[in-house]
Amino acid sequence: MIYSKPMRTPFVAANWKMHEPPVGAFVPESPYRSVEAIDIWVFPSFLDLHSARDHGLIVGAQCGRPDSQGAFTGDISMRMLADQRIQAVLCGHSERRLHHKEDDIMVAAQAIAALEAGLHPIVCIGETAQQRLEGKNKNIVRAQLEAIIPILTSSDLIIAYEPVWAISGGNADLPAATPSDAQEMHAYIRSLLPTERQEKIRIIYGGSAKPENALALCREPDVDGLLVGGASLDPASFGHIVEAVMDAKGIS
Ligand code: PGA
Repeated sequence: MIYSKPMRTPFVAANWKMHEPPVGAFVPESPYRSVEAIDIWVFPSFLDLHSARDHGLIVGAQCGRPDSQGAFTGDISMRMLADQRIQAVLCGHSERRLHHKEDDIMVAAQAIAALEAGLHPIVCIGETAQQRLEGKNKNIVRAQLEAIIPILTSSDLIIAYEPVWAISGGNADLPAATPSDAQEMHAYIRSLLPTERQEKIRIIYGGSAKPENALALCREPDVDGLLVGGASLDPASFGHIVEAVMDAKGIS
């Protein structure tokens, strides 16, 4: 799948994590259906990829292995995903970095393999609470981006800035990210992209995105959309988020 639209089309992703698809996700009027003016993609568990795809949703996997085949028990390769008409894959989600020890080298290998297989990699980057409190947030994000320098020339790449401290409701030391927190980092990330790709590569925000903050977040000029976890499990909430993103981006 080659991203050929001229501008940064607004984008909303539903990351269902280790949950069943929400009831009603596959009905004809589902809020999870992509439309021309805004890309809406869902990331179900591996077991639900086919069903979501066969109901006409645009689907991505939550992870994939870079090797094309081999003795990797429990893993699924990028090539296998592409063969099943899966369009995208999350690379380096912070929960994979934490629970599966995926480091920047592994994440880069995944993203490169995803592109080679014809998938859109959504590379997740972002600092932890500790790193932010120590003032290292920009250095961390820059290092995570430097790991994927070979693919920063691809418009098929999507970057998700997901400050780890803001995911799943934030934490006691740091309140949830504000629109200006997001804008500051998104503008910084964009400034690190090759000049000719700065207006092509989409940078979406993730971390407690919900109906209440989606409009303000997406009014920021460098926030091209949202990667939504918890609030994507409720079709009504997700529908409100999509409407807010469209409103923020002037799509009727
Ligand atoms: P959240 O998750 O919206 O529940 O914070 C976002 C994510 O982990 O991608």
